Amino acid sequence: MAKIKIPLENRNGILHIGNCNTIDLAKEYDTPLYVYDENRIRDNFRRLHKAFSSNYKKFRLYYAIKANNNPALLKILKSEGSGVDVSGPAEIYLAKKAGFSTENMLYSGVYHRDDELKYALENNVPINLEDVSQIERLFKFGKPKFLSFRINPGIGKGSFKGNVYAGKDAKFGIIERDAIKAYEKAKNLGVESFGIHMMTGSCVLDENYFVEITGKLMDIAGAIAKKLNIKFEFVDIGGGFGVPYAPDEKELDIDLIGKNVCEKFKEKIKEYDLGEPILLAEPGRYLVCDSAILLTKVHSIKNGYKKFIGVDAGMNTLIRPMIYGAYHEILVANNLDAEPEEKVNIVGPVCENTDQFAKDRLMPKIAENDLLAILNVGAYGFGMSSQYNNRPRAAEVLINDGKHELIRQRENFDDLIKGVKIPERLK
Ligand code: LLP
Repeated sequence: MAKIKIPLENRNGILHIGNCNTIDLAKEYDTPLYVYDENRIRDNFRRLHKAFSSNYKKFRLYYAIKANNNPALLKILKSEGSGVDVSGPAEIYLAKKAGFSTENMLYSGVYHRDDELKYALENNVPINLEDVSQIERLFKFGKPKFLSFRINPGIGKGSFKGNVYAGKDAKFGIIERDAIKAYEKAKNLGVESFGIHMMTGSCVLDENYFVEITGKLMDIAGAIAKKLNIKFEFVDIGGGFGVPYAPDEKELDIDLIGKNVCEKFKEKIKEYDLGEPILLAEPGRYLVCDSAILLTKVHSIKNGYKKFIGVDAGMNTLIRPMIYGAYHEILVANNLDAEPEEKVNIVGPVCENTDQFAKDRLMPKIAENDLLAILNVGAYGFGMSSQYNNRPRAAEVLINDGKHELIRQRENFDDLIKGVKIPERLK
């Protein structure tokens, strides 16, 4: 039987999340439905924060908004003391609306447009550039007192190829050879203080990797500081903290990472005489992924060459399995105690054959009207959803100690044509 863990619970064979019965939730809000547990987000934040801050006081977490932009979740993380990693003007706008002050943001756009750089500068958001050529483009709009650069330290790691953001194939960051040039140029143009940043991959489940990569960034930072005689306000080691999706994957030992990364960090700041910079991390997935499930109802079952279980969520609702081949655990929420007995494909209503959440997955017997729960969907779930095949986006519900409320209403048909204009001659 599938392993379930907090915030999920098996009560008499029925899946509960945060003390709420999933069958009741599906009845009240309809499906497909994203359901988030507030306490789990808070616990994730606190666990990660403590793992580092108990080893190095000047540690801060900046939540990566792109993982999930729901303002209710942003407010939760803000109340825990999080800052935010923002990757574009809209994320600056959303973070401001959720109450974050711009000094608690870091703007790490990639391949920026000029007006995006201008927007970040005008909003006083600390800027993290990712190429030497971007310095002059930014300076057209004014001189920032502070600047950070995203470094590609030459190695990266991720849960699949598409989740590796550093190394030779990656489009991100400034390569080591050019890093000094970037800081030198910025310094010569009058920038007074600096940060250094990397984001080398996502969903890493190897504790040692975080230590290795921190050491690598610190060596680069050390060389820059020595050559240019600058001090870093912060060192940002990015996100990437993995969450187990498949049953054979193991939870990260986050305390071990916190301890060993901080040790490496302290050793390196001493070695290069870097003072006491803030240590930053910008997790997305780790904070929100396992706080949420996607509830979807079985409508149609077909016995063809294979057995297809048709549900009302599709690649428009959750696209990770389709584009990355990502594994997501799926439970029969109304029948948790049933033993697995047959291999089935769990598929959505979109007119593409790639619209399959699971292939040849061993599942208990599933019947029409059963309720399925797709796990670990809090990160890059709703945020990557679309209206493809003309399907309005799902609703989102937040649970707090057994109470639930809507945090995003289900879209309707008119939302599919919002902003559309028909030329006069076609009316
Ligand atoms: N910082 C920056 C600059 C980033 O680009 C990202 C994620 C993060 C932090 C947060 O990374 P995390 O802690 O979540 O690994 N759609 C993919 C993941 C894309 C991650 C993009 N960047 C997926 O569904 O697996």
